[in-house]
Formats: sequence, structure tokens, C-alpha cells
Amino acid sequence: MKRTPIPVSIRFAASRRVAARASAVLLALCACVAAPVAWAHGDVTPQAVDTSALPKLGEQWRAENPFRGNETAVKIGTSAYNQNCARCHGLEAISGGMAPDLRKLDGECATMKDAGRRAACVKEIDDFYSSTVRAGRSRNGAVYMPPFEGVMSQEAVWSIKAYLETRREKPF
Ligand code: HEC
Repeated sequence: MKRTPIPVSIRFAASRRVAARASAVLLALCACVAAPVAWAHGDVTPQAVDTSALPKLGEQWRAENPFRGNETAVKIGTSAYNQNCARCHGLEAISGGMAPDLRKLDGECATMKDAGRRAACVKEIDDFYSSTVRAGRSRNGAVYMPPFEGVMSQEAVWSIKAYLETRREKPF
């Protein structure tokens, strides 16, 4: 069975000072765990993204970004990113440390010399990207990132990826 550190502090709880310190630690822990939940409230109303200038993709999610290098998509993705992702992932995709830096998303692919392997790597990251954005990220009941499935269209999600590819830390 996994041992938790809590019984240890209870053992020492005979001393009032230690007990007070333990509860301060507990309070700090609670604040820490509660923080991601707070992000899911307040100014999180997803902003509508107008993708009417792009071809419709239908219901089926693509395994790979159909808008890679599409300039219209990049433009739409820039504004969609700023309105829906930047408050956590940073303006211009430069993370302030609160959430992963999305300029590095497919950074490992950049180092691949073989074009075929690199394309396969980017495709894999596309899939990881779209499933993460659709499902969001939650752990132990805390929402780190809200799900965008049903909130943002597939066209908008891939436009954001097309934009992020213009922000790569290591351009291809
Ligand atoms: C409320 C804050 C928040 C918003 C809004 C948000 N994210 Fe996130 N995102 C996070 C956090 C925090 C993580 C890391 C979660 C974890 O630790 O599991 C993350 C993880 C990710 C990942 C996985 C990165 C990796 O390397 O594992 C991707 C991709 C991503 N977000 C894309 C987006 C996109 C695109 C948007 C906008 C449509 C967005 N996020 C909106 C907070 C947010």
C-alpha cells in the first residue's frame, strides 16, 4: 500500500507548534490544488471563431492538419488562438510558464533529417494536439485546461495549429 506523509505529521502533532505548521502546509497544498480549478471559471467563455472563409471539414475529425500552410487558416487561427488559448499559453504562443509553450509542440520533429520521418512525426503531433484540445486536461478533479470539443469547430482547431506552426521555436 502507498504510504502518505500525513500520518507522520499526526505522530508529531503532540507539539502544538508542529501541528500549526502542519496545517499551514495543508493550507498551502489546498491552495495549490485549487488553483487550476480557478482557471476554469471567470473569463473562460469561448469566443466564436468565424471559419466561413475555409472549406468545411465535416463531422469526422482528420488525423492530420488539412490547413497546414493555408494563409487564410493562419490568419483565422491567430485570432482564435488569441481569444481562446493565449490567456494560459501566452501571447504569440510565448508561454509565461503557466501552461506548456506551444512553440515547442512539434520541436522534436524539427531535428529529423529524413523528410518522411519528419512528416510522420508532425502527423503524430497533429493527432496529439487535436485530441488534447478536444478533451482538455483534468487530473484528480482539477481542470487544467477546459475541453473544446463541441465548443470550437474542427476548422477553428486546425486553424490554430496552422498558426502555431508559424510560431515554431525551431522552424522547419
Ligand atoms: C485555462 C487555461 C488553458 C486554456 C484556456 C488552454 N490551455 Fe492548453 N493547456 C493548459 C495547461 C495547464 C496544460 C498542461 C496540462 C497538464 O499539465 O496536463 C495545457 C496543455 C495543452 C496542450 C498539450 C501540450 C503538451 O505539450 O502536453 C496543448 C496542445 C494545448 N494545451 C493546446 C491548447 C489550445 C490550442 C488552446 C486554445 C484552443 C488551449 N490549449 C487553451 C491550459 C490551458
